[in-house]
Amino acid sequence: MLNGLDQHGWVSMPGCMNHDDSIRLARECQASCDNGDFVTAGVGRGKGLEVRENIRQDRVKWIQPGEESVEQEIYLAKLEVMRLAINERFFLGLFDFEGHFAIYSEGGFYKAHLDRHAGTGSRIVTVILYLNEHWQPGDGGELKLWTTSGSRDGAYALIEPRLGTMVCFMAGDFWHEVMPAVKPRMSITGWFRRCET
Ligand code: OGA
Ligand code: MN
Repeated sequence: MLNGLDQHGWVSMPGCMNHDDSIRLARECQASCDNGDFVTAGVGRGKGLEVRENIRQDRVKWIQPGEESVEQEIYLAKLEVMRLAINERFFLGLFDFEGHFAIYSEGGFYKAHLDRHAGTGSRIVTVILYLNEHWQPGDGGELKLWTTSGSRDGAYALIEPRLGTMVCFMAGDFWHEVMPAVKPRMSITGWFRRCET
C-alpha cells in the first residue's frame, strides 16, 4: 500500500481484507439497509449539501464513533494500522477516519468527481473496501479511476468491486467515478483526515 501510494498516488489491493471478516461486514451492511438505516447520499459540504440524483445515486450509513459493531471494529483496527503507517512514511498528519457504508441499487452510479477540492477540506486519503461476494464481469459498478494526478482524461484503471478488495488514493488528486451498477453494489467508503487550518 505504502509503495503504491508513494509511486502512483493510488493503489488497488484485491484480497486485502480476509474473506470471513469481509462477509460479516457485507451481511451487516445488507441487514442494516433492510432495516431502513440508510439515507440518500448528498453532494457538497455543510450548508451546500444537497441530494443530486443526476450526480450520485448511492445510499449511505455513516459509521458512528462509539457505536461500532464488532465487525466495524475489526475493520477500523486495520485502518488504524494503515493510518499510522501512512503518517510515518509521508508525514501527512492524518488524525482520524470518517466513513460510511454505501449501497448502489441497480442502475446506480456516481459521476466523475474528486473527493476534495484543491487546497480545501480535510479529506486527504480515500479508502474504499468492496463487499460484493459474487461480483463478476457484467455486474457493473466498477470504479473508474483516472491514473494521471489532476486529470480526468487519458489512462484510467477499472477496478472490480470484489469482496475484500481495498482501494486507496489521494483524495484531492484523482478523478474517479462509479460505473452504473447492473446488480446492487456494497462498499465502505471513507477518508483519513487532517486538521483543517
Ligand atoms: C465516493 C466514491 C467510489 C466507490 O463515495 O466518493 O467515489 O468505488 N466511491 O465506491
Ligand atoms: Mn469519491
